[in-house]
Amino acid sequence: MHLSVKPLVSASAIRRIVSHLAHVINCEYEGRELHLLVVLKGSVIFAADLMRQLDMDVRLNFIRARSYDGRTSTGSVEFTLLPESSLQGKHVLVVEDILDTGRTCAAILKWVRAQSPASVAVCTLLDKPERRVKRLKADYAGLVIPDHFVVGYGLDYNERYRRLPEIYALECDPPKSSPA
Ligand code: IMP
Ligand code: MG
Repeated sequence: MHLSVKPLVSASAIRRIVSHLAHVINCEYEGRELHLLVVLKGSVIFAADLMRQLDMDVRLNFIRARSYDGRTSTGSVEFTLLPESSLQGKHVLVVEDILDTGRTCAAILKWVRAQSPASVAVCTLLDKPERRVKRLKADYAGLVIPDHFVVGYGLDYNERYRRLPEIYALECDPPKSSPA
């Protein structure tokens, strides 16, 4: 199978989207201490860009959840890394690269709520609502995209393509027909 990538969101469009999200979050959380809960690994580049545009006191936490094998959702979510410090009484903002079926984020929200935070909200760079199986809406969503598998700007396909500065749709080209 031959994979090819098709440009979907340019680096400058990503910059505009991230700046807009930061502006809205700055207005919402002004004067508060905000605990980012960055979902590894796909959200690291987004989170790094976003947090440098936030004005309030920001604390960085990571969570890692496995729900994917290649391009297929396995349906189950397993945490392989949890934050070291308690989120009790904190304002928590879950930072996601993409909301797809919503299973990962739903499981993360359940875990965070069990910590008794002061508040919890979700910020996602990309949203694919067409594929949602959980009733879940991001509080802050950068860009709604159609049902494409996307890579770049932190997003991977089997760990590849994360370094790309733009976002691409990954396509499987049909096998070339051999000459008769
Ligand atoms: P969900 O649990 O189905 O919402 O999927 C969440 C996770 O699956 C995301 O945080 C991504 O890591 C991964 N994922 C979902 N869609 C894509 C995609 O189009 N490209 C790369 N990773 C994706
Ligand atoms: Mg991934």
